[in-house]
Amino acid sequence: MNVTALPKIELHLHLEGAAPPAFIRGLAKQRHVDLSGIFDADGNYRFAGFRTFLKVYEAATETLKTPGDYHRLTLAVLEESAASGVIYCETFLSPDFCGGRDLGAWREYLDAIRDAADQAERQLGITLRGIVTSIRHFGPDKARQAARCAAETAGDFIVGFGISGDETVGKPRDFAWSFDLAREAGLRLTAHAGEWCGPDSIRDALADLRPDRIGHGVRAIEDPALVDELAEKGIVLELCPGSNIALGLYPGWRRHPIGALYDRGVRITVSTDDPPFFRTTMAREYDRLAEAFGWDADVFRRIARTSLDAAFCDADTRTRVLKRMEPEHA
Ligand code: ADE
Ligand code: ZN
Repeated sequence: MNVTALPKIELHLHLEGAAPPAFIRGLAKQRHVDLSGIFDADGNYRFAGFRTFLKVYEAATETLKTPGDYHRLTLAVLEESAASGVIYCETFLSPDFCGGRDLGAWREYLDAIRDAADQAERQLGITLRGIVTSIRHFGPDKARQAARCAAETAGDFIVGFGISGDETVGKPRDFAWSFDLAREAGLRLTAHAGEWCGPDSIRDALADLRPDRIGHGVRAIEDPALVDELAEKGIVLELCPGSNIALGLYPGWRRHPIGALYDRGVRITVSTDDPPFFRTTMAREYDRLAEAFGWDADVFRRIARTSLDAAFCDADTRTRVLKRMEPEHA
């Protein structure tokens, strides 16, 4: 099976987390920022575990200072995604990093990112949409400001709102106000949960934030009743197996719960999270899944279809992408 040729839909990708290390090194040099501590001898990002990963991520993000930087970053990321066979992608964008939560500055960053996305769509045939993400360990006040930026710019490009960051800090209910504001602005919702905390974190996120999708949610597997509930309610999980394995949550691909969650009827999708950090790509995720679980092109086609159905874009965009994905059904 040529996995690269399979059309892919990616729903869970952090834009800064997708920055190639060489790209960040180039910016650091230009701006005279010393980032040598965040790279290993081979030039890859260096971290040990989730907390240092977040620190390295934020240190790398410090080099991204202007809308122009984000324009170049967006193009670089979409080139890599398109090379893996991705035809539609949703990326997390953070007003915390893009303009320090100032609405005017946020709009400038957004214009630059959109412009790059339009260029990539013309040149590479990949469609991008944005999900504004709040960052849990920055606290509820900053999340409210991020939600305001999201609500003010909701539309055909900014289609969702979410929360990422360190889920061991605070509670989902601390962020309910922000989620309510985003929902009222017409945005669809996703919340990281069940990555570093257990099944109760997923139950709390579902009850307090009422998201359409859960980011990760992989630890639902520890609670069979929750797995049944996710399957019955059709809650979509944005699974990122390569990320979980690289961060030490599971010892290897065969031990990752994605196979069991799929077999139990949960609506699963596959994404890379922060691909260069975890030395992965969408094509590599598909390759490893085929190897570990014997999945064939039919399974991947089903997953891509679930992902497109769960995408936050408008109906016209979904139809357009479906025609590219399944021309035989168009
Ligand atoms: N931000 C970037 N990657 C993340 C992850 N895997 N979990 C939580 N926050 C993140
Ligand atoms: Zn994530």
